[in-house]
Amino acid sequence: MDMSATAKLRRAATARRAKLAYQAGFGNTFSTEAEKGALPVGQNSPQRTPKGLYPEVLSGSAFTAPRAENLSTWLYKLRPSAMHAPFRRLPQGLVRSGPFDEAEASPNRLRWDPLPIPAKPTDFLDGLVTIAGSGDPAAQGGIAVHLYRANRPMKDRYFYSADGELMFVPQQGALLLATELGRLEVQPGEVAVVPRGVKFRVELQGGTRGGPDGVRGYLCENYGAPFRLPELGPIGSQGLAQRRDFLAPVAAYEDKAGKCQLVAKFLGGLWAAELSHSPLDVVAWHGNCAPYKYDLARFMTINTVSFDHPDPSIFTVLTSPSGTPGVANCDFVIFPPRWMVAEHTFRPPWFHRNFMSELMGLVRGVYDAKAEGFLPGGISIHNCMSGHGPDRPTYDRASSAALKPHKIEDTLAFMWESRYVFRPTKTALAAKELQKGYDKVWDGF
Ligand SMILES: [Fe+2]
Repeated sequence: MDMSATAKLRRAATARRAKLAYQAGFGNTFSTEAEKGALPVGQNSPQRTPKGLYPEVLSGSAFTAPRAENLSTWLYKLRPSAMHAPFRRLPQGLVRSGPFDEAEASPNRLRWDPLPIPAKPTDFLDGLVTIAGSGDPAAQGGIAVHLYRANRPMKDRYFYSADGELMFVPQQGALLLATELGRLEVQPGEVAVVPRGVKFRVELQGGTRGGPDGVRGYLCENYGAPFRLPELGPIGSQGLAQRRDFLAPVAAYEDKAGKCQLVAKFLGGLWAAELSHSPLDVVAWHGNCAPYKYDLARFMTINTVSFDHPDPSIFTVLTSPSGTPGVANCDFVIFPPRWMVAEHTFRPPWFHRNFMSELMGLVRGVYDAKAEGFLPGGISIHNCMSGHGPDRPTYDRASSAALKPHKIEDTLAFMWESRYVFRPTKTALAAKELQKGYDKVWDGF
């Protein structure tokens, strides 16, 4: 590609970014309108709504959920969501859902190299592949972990999951999430969450292909309670992720007629209905059930300044509680760049066997418990009570290293940790990217 073409792409991307606007705060009740005067004042469903828009409520929790957990948003739309043809079953592709019983789960530790981005034209939905999961959308507990891989934007095609909220962790290339409630750009180093039921389209930023090789990332479909900020306990009121760093989109809509497809994920199945218009037609909205994004560089990392390891729960960005206090349906945990200063201490993560099950991914760099073999875009699973920890080279190096303060730079690993065992899919177990010799990294102690 010549320089002028590159410059043009960059200008186009800049122009698109310039249109993006956000409102800050985790769980805030926002009021936003793309057209002045579109939002009713003083009531939610007046007899005649401003500009003839249709009011529609989107609830993200049971009506009677406690106030602190109640999620609800009023939408003002060009057409009601009810206006669509019947849903018809679509082929399932590589998307799987709970109860994840197609293959037997074993106590073995599992690790995959990154799955390639397909060479043929593939949009976000076509490129989805489920790696593992737990629980069942019908019981509103557990999670599914998918990978997305795409080299084309979704065209005249929209998606929502009735089974759970979706957390995006981009690993390569930036995405534009054009949602009903507005537009979010999310790039590697950031995460975004789209609530259960919210319709969206995925575009690729930085040109139509999202960079020369397309986009890839991790996707957690959370069947359980929506992610929230963890309690801080003795840490106090500051630290970890701060409310003000979470960004929700402002209202933005498409007034577009013409055939398009709305794909729904419902009890694991993929279904499609034909629409005569874009479903992204929310002109104004107010409420606290909204997509959001968060830059992981804003996370204030806490760790020891004397010796030994606190539990990795100090790295929790967001948590989905299970109903049992302190026992998560899913914790989202990161291992970002940070100073290591512990004295007379083995600094990488120690050997451990845990009650909770762990699924890890790597956005960039090297994870400090492994010398090699865990690559950006890769995945590891260490399930309940399966022994794991530093590999042999890491153990040797860290147990004899001079313990000066040093900074772990240019790395970003993360974990979805759950009380429920991750059950791999048939596709994941048959993938050639599954590392056959993973157990050997702990040989020879
Ligand atoms: Fe672990």
